[in-house]
Amino acid sequence: MSKISLNIDGIEVEANEGMTVLEAAQTIGIKIPTLCHHEQLEPYGGCRVCTVEAEAKGRTKLVVACVYPVEEDLVVRTRSEKVDRIRKMIIQLLMSRAPESEQLIELAREYGADKDRFEKEASFCIHCGLCVRYCAEVKKLSAVGFINRGAKREINFIPEIAAKECWDCKECFPLCPTSALQAAYGFTESLIAASPPYET
Ligand code: SF4
Ligand code: FES
Repeated sequence: MSKISLNIDGIEVEANEGMTVLEAAQTIGIKIPTLCHHEQLEPYGGCRVCTVEAEAKGRTKLVVACVYPVEEDLVVRTRSEKVDRIRKMIIQLLMSRAPESEQLIELAREYGADKDRFEKEASFCIHCGLCVRYCAEVKKLSAVGFINRGAKREINFIPEIAAKECWDCKECFPLCPTSALQAAYGFTESLIAASPPYET
């Protein structure tokens, strides 16, 4: 595997070709915040909280570190005024959906984000897709998926699959950065209990 040399926050890094900027940063102990990233899952790039500045051939752009591949001579800045401003905005937007999320509260503290900056949407799901992707990619079950589009997008357990598979799994629960998943599962459980035809 060929090696790629890049610079992250002033440190020279030798990364493997195909690695993402996030992975390269992790190899030297630089922490970039993430919400929708999981080592066992395919890169997704949904939440954008891992945005960093990347400079190549004299041009600087904002890239999503968990999906952006390392490049020879790339210069990455994981904290800058611009990066922090964008992360703050993203955190504020996500907090309009999930103001009680501990992960978001912690990030808000670090980036000086105001949880009341945007009008609240009572969905609690930040659409990180961790539950959906984990169930599909790792468990190969797809017991939970997204329904609707745009602002109405929400997660939904498929009762027929959930009745058989979820009760002794729940591996997705700790992945959820909000309370949306547990609430959706609770709703599905009541549905299953109220409708005896669902086989368990
Ligand atoms: S329910 Fe939780 S884990 Fe699933 S997409 Fe929403 S925030 Fe992410
Ligand atoms: S962690 Fe990179 S986009 Fe969510």
